[in-house]
Formats: sequence, C-alpha cells, structure tokens
Amino acid sequence: MKALILSGGKGTRLRPLTYTGAKQLVPVANKPILWYGIEALVNAGVYDIGIIISPETGGEIQKKTGDGSRFGANITYILQENPDGLAHAVKIARPFLGDSSFVMYLGDNLIADDLSQYLDEFTTKNLDALILLRKVSNPSAFGVATINDYGEVLELVEKPKYPQSNLALVGIYFFSPEIHNSIETLKPSARGELEITDAIQSLLLSKKLVSARKLQNWWLDTGKKDDLLEANRIILDTNLSAENLGSIEEKSQIIGRVKIGKNTRIINSTIRGPVIIGENCYLENCFIGPYSSIADNVKLTETDLEHSVILESAEVLGIQQRIVDSVIGQRTKIHLALKRPKAVSFMIGDDSQIELI
Ligand code: G1P
Repeated sequence: MKALILSGGKGTRLRPLTYTGAKQLVPVANKPILWYGIEALVNAGVYDIGIIISPETGGEIQKKTGDGSRFGANITYILQENPDGLAHAVKIARPFLGDSSFVMYLGDNLIADDLSQYLDEFTTKNLDALILLRKVSNPSAFGVATINDYGEVLELVEKPKYPQSNLALVGIYFFSPEIHNSIETLKPSARGELEITDAIQSLLLSKKLVSARKLQNWWLDTGKKDDLLEANRIILDTNLSAENLGSIEEKSQIIGRVKIGKNTRIINSTIRGPVIIGENCYLENCFIGPYSSIADNVKLTETDLEHSVILESAEVLGIQQRIVDSVIGQRTKIHLALKRPKAVSFMIGDDSQIELI
C-alpha cells in the first residue's frame, strides 16, 4: 500500500498568506497542515508516500518536510508542472505508484477519524475505490455523492449546481490500480481539470467495486480562514498537552493547558489555555485567551488576543483592543504608538483584510 498526498495548487482562498507560502504549510497549532496527513498515514501503517508539489511552492514544502525520516516514512516528491486536476496528479504519479493500491490524500484536509478502519475495509473487501463522505451545508462547493438506502453509491458529480444530496466527498480516497484505466478515459471538466470525481464515477459506470463510508467525526478542509481557525480550535482542544520550556516572569499567570517553547519569555502576562506558543517569543503585558496559536519568533506587547493564529516572526505591539478570530501572517508588524491614535498608517499587502470593529 502506498500513499499519494496532493500538495500543489495555488491556495487562492487563503490569500494573502499563500502568495508567499504553500497553503499546506500554513500551521494548525504550530504544525503545518500537511504534516497531520503524513502522520495519519504513518499511524495507519502506510510508509511509502509520494507528495505532489507545484513549481511555485514545491521547494519550500520539500525543504520543510524532508525525506520523511522524521515521520518514519519514505517520501518521494513528484512535480506537477500545471494544476491540471487531481486525476492528472494521479496520472503523473503512475511511475511512483506502479500497480500498487494507494490512499490519495488532499494535503489541506484534516479528519479526526483513524484511517486504519477504512484501510482495513478497503483491503478486506477488495474494493476498487473507497470514498469518505460527510454532510455539508454547501454541497455545491464539493464533489457530491448520491447513495441509496443500503449505502451504495449511485452517482458522483463534481461541484453540481443543483446537488442531489448534501453528502460531500472528503479529500481522502482509497484506490486499486483500476483507477488508472478510468483516468485514461477522462476529458477535462468545465474548469479545465481532470477530476478524480469523474474517474470514480467512471469506475461506477463500469461496475467496479466502489464503496462509501460516512465519517464519524469532524472533517476540515482548511483552505479558508474560518476553517483554519476552526481546525486550530479543534486541534488545541483535543491534542494539546501542557509543557513549559520558556521562562515565566513577573506576575505572569498560566491557566489551563498551555504549551510554551524554548527561549520564550512571558513577562507580566496572563495566558489562558488552550494556547500554544512557539520558541524565541517575547510577550509582555499581554492577555492571551483560549484557542490561540503563536508561532516561533513572535513579539507581542500590550496585546489582548483570543481565538487567533499568529505566524512566524510577526510583531504586534501596543494594541490595546482585543484581537479576535484573526490570522496574522509571517513577519507582519502591527504597532500602535499611542493609546488613542489620531491617525493610523498602513502598509498592507494585496488581498489583506482589516476590520476595525
Ligand atoms: C476537491 C475535489 C472535491 C472534494 C474536495 C474535498 O475539490 O475536487 O470533489 O469534495 O476536494 O476537499 P477542490 O479542493 O479541488 O475544489
């Protein structure tokens, strides 16, 4: 059994963060989203992993993630020159996949369920495809499955205008090598891509064994800001254990589950968990509320923060207002010189969002 993780794409919905970095490297609880997928695969006993990368962000992904040894996996990187679709990615990965069955995993998807149960079902039933489904409120944004009362898959349609059900295809699939034959028959979709949904539909039409399972727990497709914050909240809620490798100074208070990295100084501040703070950070006169993730090398003073993600090397200084539901990009600087400034001055990148509420 092999795995193919798709980690290309442009990440348009997470702009501006994804102008300068891959969406799959955006951190959730200070760990790149992509790494959760790799760990889930390794936990299910899949070690031979191919990662599809794009020319724009592939180098960064490769540099950060390495050859897989840190996960106990063996990673092969496969370059997809153009974003020509998920099925196209499988096509170009054929030399890596050979005639092996494989798990295909979209690198910005996170699920809570253990993959092993699905992998077992796929292998013991000798299926050609096992897909995972989850009810959503906006099915038109996904691949949509129609199933009958026995749970058998009747039809799959990619992003239908008029969806026949509210069951979306989760970005994790199990395939036998039969999928390659159906990919060979595909034509590009309306958005000009070879769709994996169409490839599975073609398996169905040729009476191959396709089965579906509904996820038992949450699924997050972290491609957007609110999903990213939600993923951060859930991971901090379920996976964080307290640890302090930093120094807690002068009247500071740490309440609940808080993880603090090496060389981080917390001065005259209150941190109310669950919160994760990386290495080499400096926090003075701050209140950091629940569900906040602060990456390495961040500096915060006079800042009141909650339910937010701050990326590496950002600085937030002197903001007396509460910052909520925010994502602050790498190396961003927000400084407030006076308590009630008469004017504000900005240098803000394309597609940024600022709400003074
Ligand atoms: C892709 C698939 C879609 C699936 C979704 C899950 O959509 O094409 O069928 O439901 O991933 O994340 P995309 O992210 O390319 O819009």
